[in-house]
Amino acid sequence: MLILNSPEVTQETCVRWKIESQVALVPTMGCLHEGHLALVRRAKELALKVVVSIFVNPLQFGPNEDFKKYPRAFEEDCKKLESLGVDLLFYPTVKDLYPESFATKVSVGEIGHRLCGAFRPGHFDGVATVVLKLFEVTACDFAVFGEKDFQQLTVIQQLTRDFNLPVCVVPYPTVRAKDQVALSSRNNYLSPKEREAATQIPIAFKLAQEEVTQNPRQTVEELLKKISPLLTSQELKLQYLEITQNRELLATQPNDCIQSLILPHLFVAVYAGTTRLIDNLSLKGFIYEKA
Ligand code: PAF
Repeated sequence: MLILNSPEVTQETCVRWKIESQVALVPTMGCLHEGHLALVRRAKELALKVVVSIFVNPLQFGPNEDFKKYPRAFEEDCKKLESLGVDLLFYPTVKDLYPESFATKVSVGEIGHRLCGAFRPGHFDGVATVVLKLFEVTACDFAVFGEKDFQQLTVIQQLTRDFNLPVCVVPYPTVRAKDQVALSSRNNYLSPKEREAATQIPIAFKLAQEEVTQNPRQTVEELLKKISPLLTSQELKLQYLEITQNRELLATQPNDCIQSLILPHLFVAVYAGTTRLIDNLSLKGFIYEKA
């Protein structure tokens, strides 16, 4: 596995590869878990050359967020990627990607202010800016993103459409632990009690799924009222619980009937102690027309 820091050398290498094969990219911030490795395996199915990037992107962290303490595990990450047969690890420093002269930033518009964006101003602009750079540097044909960060995936799909980027964005289903908690590098921060409390998220999702199946005619407000108590306890503080609609994740109204929504999607963010956890569930598959 090649390990390169320089954007220029990485670009030269990938452009050369593209004469004979396609390139699939898996962008990450490192501290790789099974969820990331599943993305890499998917990338290997898509293209002959697989590039993984590890870069903790300062542009997507707010001033009081965990940029400095974000878990880093370079040696272990390298071993995992090596064992999967990754061709290139792009591992730039902040200066490599954002030299002093760097000035241009992407603004993702409306979607960047909703859901997580309402609590993390500028976060999705930072994500879109670095992802655009990563797409350019690796000249990738495919890029694989986990559905765990569904709003991020939606933002990247929009970025790709808006800028006519020649990249096929490939979503990958959320990888979950045995107890159904979504895998996340930030799970490393959780105490055993907080980890236990995090299982309330999949429990709430199961209830939502059952509720929607049983009574798809209930309103957004009715459904959220049933789920939210499960996400509030001594260990869990609910930040937001929302149902969106459409590919653009548009807001719904409290009295909208779930059944009438196109692509209803449930989003949650909670704090377990000081750790922020997010998850989401498509409700579409659980709605059956009742005779
Ligand atoms: O999901 C992540 O790990 C990051 O947001 C990404 C896509 C690598 C951009 O920094």
